[in-house]
Amino acid sequence: MTELSAPLPAPVLPTPAARPGGRLPGWLQRHMDLGFRILRNTLPILVLPFRIRGRRWACVTRAEDVEAVLRRPDVFDVPYAAKIAVVMEGGNIFLGMPDTEEARRDKANMRLTAPSAEARARIGPETARLAAEVVRQAAPRRRLDLAMELSQAVTTRLYAAYFGLGDAPEREIADQARALFGYMFGNPLDDLAQRAAAEPVAAALRRRIGAAVAARKRTPGVGEGAGEDVLGRCLRLQAEGRPGFTDLEIRNNLIGLVVGALPQAPMLIPQLFDLLLDRPRELAAAQAAARADDDAALARIVFEAARFRPLTPGLFRLCREDYRLAAGHWRGRTIRAGTIVLAATRSAMMDGRRVPAPREFRTDRLDPLGLHFGLGQHECFGIHMNQAMLPQICKPVLRLPGLRRAPGEEGRLRLDDAFGIFPMNLTVAFD
Ligand code: HEM
Repeated sequence: MTELSAPLPAPVLPTPAARPGGRLPGWLQRHMDLGFRILRNTLPILVLPFRIRGRRWACVTRAEDVEAVLRRPDVFDVPYAAKIAVVMEGGNIFLGMPDTEEARRDKANMRLTAPSAEARARIGPETARLAAEVVRQAAPRRRLDLAMELSQAVTTRLYAAYFGLGDAPEREIADQARALFGYMFGNPLDDLAQRAAAEPVAAALRRRIGAAVAARKRTPGVGEGAGEDVLGRCLRLQAEGRPGFTDLEIRNNLIGLVVGALPQAPMLIPQLFDLLLDRPRELAAAQAAARADDDAALARIVFEAARFRPLTPGLFRLCREDYRLAAGHWRGRTIRAGTIVLAATRSAMMDGRRVPAPREFRTDRLDPLGLHFGLGQHECFGIHMNQAMLPQICKPVLRLPGLRRAPGEEGRLRLDDAFGIFPMNLTVAFD
């Protein structure tokens, strides 16, 4: 299958999940893609001439420049360490580190505990099983909420078991992860009230995961191979004396995985259905792929749909030294040390210089994953898991006969009040 439809019109409704810092003004939401398009063609590297909260800010919108920023972690550092310190009581994990030996070691260490090959062999089939179960339970009601009832429940069950936190109360850990994700990534101005709200939640999650580590260590056989989950493998590597696996480091890395993994599939999937339910041709193609068990075709549709509803306008970086971006080109600008840079991945994925026919919904592009999962040093640790799981959550829903929005408000995407980025409900009906 190649092109599925005519060019998508610019979204008329706001795309609320694309809020970098909670509540952007409505007009900015509505016109974000247009704004990015104008910037790409006029001021592709926009350096604001004034400060916000005492900081310089810049926005980079062309794909080439966005990639250049993300591929230079030595110049454009991640800005997360201070917030991670709040969540982890002064600690840090590889997400918050510059390009150092320690960061490389820690990411490689965690990869040993969640090997890429396991995504296809374990995460995909387990997601399919969990999602099918939820859909089966909803069948007599002929209604299903795609946010909490399906995506949040499946994602939480899947990762609580895979990470080794199987007995954590599902609702509580999902709520904690969402609150901390909102604090970390939905709050770029580091609002003090948000920090105060995050602190007790972080303390509770630290206690829960610290207790899980301690309890597992008391389990006989740990260190000799017991526990084929991330925590069990961490403890095995600790027993082997591998650096980077103290109890505290294990706890902090597990907190990072929980906060990264639990909220995002439930953010993305209702958004995808919100788009597909208004696009009969793309919906029919997705349904055909699901019914034919064509996972590759389904994945391409899912990730292409995500290009029109990305979770974020971009990724923030902190410029460490004066740096000439796009040097030698008319658009080149010097970004001063201390500037916060938004590498606008949403804009890059719509840049016709890189993405052929960017406003068309197509599934024949060479790089179907785009920049949804970042690039370079900080590329998403869960990228392989995402590729395996996201289509599998969608699949049993797409197979339902007569799939449509539930009538009234329930059939419309509703977001959380605190951050305005988390879908709370989107109910579908079926025959
Ligand atoms: C829809 C699902 C997901 C999306 C859209 C997503 C997106 C991203 C993005 C864009 C980044 C890069 C951040 C940056 O460069 O500033 C990232 C990093 C990260 N993600 Fe994900 N993610 C998802 C799921 C997951 C899952 C399932 C896990 C854990 C199993 C995870 C763990 C992480 C970690 C630990 C990092 C930091 C990587 C590093 O700094 O090297 N994410 N994610």
